[in-house]
Amino acid sequence: MAKGYFITGTDTGVGKTIVAGGLAALHKNQGLNVGVMKPVATGCKRVNNRLISDDAVFLQLSAEVEDEYELINPISLEQPLAPTVAARLSNTKIDTDKINTAYDTLCERHEYIIVEGIGGLMVPIDEYYFIVDLANEFELPLIIICRPTLGTINHTLLTASYAREHGLEVKGIVVNESAENCDAVVKKTNIDEIKRLTELPIIGTIPFNKGLDIKNYNKEVLIKIFSDNIDKNIII
Ligand SMILES: Nc1ncnc2c1ncn2[C@@H]1O[C@H](COP(=O)(O)OP(=O)(O)O)[C@@H](O)[C@H]1O
Ligand SMILES: [Mg+2]
Repeated sequence: MAKGYFITGTDTGVGKTIVAGGLAALHKNQGLNVGVMKPVATGCKRVNNRLISDDAVFLQLSAEVEDEYELINPISLEQPLAPTVAARLSNTKIDTDKINTAYDTLCERHEYIIVEGIGGLMVPIDEYYFIVDLANEFELPLIIICRPTLGTINHTLLTASYAREHGLEVKGIVVNESAENCDAVVKKTNIDEIKRLTELPIIGTIPFNKGLDIKNYNKEVLIKIFSDNIDKNIII
């Protein structure tokens, strides 16, 4: 089994990129050789005639790696849509062999690898091939990112239960406040319920902080917030 984590979320926008980047930066800060990957990205921007994902760039900066962009993000699609739909609209099909070859190369180069999925576990990347299948192929334990606000118990329990049904090891949960002003009681009670019902460790709770912005990489803030709020006994 490769060493590292596959980062998934209960939804898009819950903070997968911020958390994947934060964990990569912590590993790097501890002197570990960590690689990063965003196998499939949509909503990519054209830069010098090449499609670039903000997520992949943020991960690349966080881990301070020199790997070729094509290895970090082998599949980049332009439309901000689900991968299979974005591929169809660009008259292409997602090449899973290309993803696997890039992953194998990164695993050879790095001791740890932190992979960010896309959306949640049931996002299709081929006709009947989902993110959950990719996580299994990569043989990495899963970390689930969720939000602290109302509705999160349902989403987090569904994700954890689906992951387990599909044979994935779930390392734990990171609760991320990607929006401001979450009520403290709501946050505390939701986290307690998630812990009780999933019986999974809460690896950390990341507070809202304007310095955590995927479009504006700030190493100092990222490392400070993640060192203060991540349980290093669980993940490093
Ligand atoms: N803890 C946080 N504090 C402030 N902003 C955050 C935080 N977590 C995420 N964000 C912002 O919220 C948005 C969604 O986060 P992101 O990591 O991109 O989610 P995902 O990768 O799951 O789609 C981004 O603009 C990011 O900068
Ligand atoms: Mg992301």
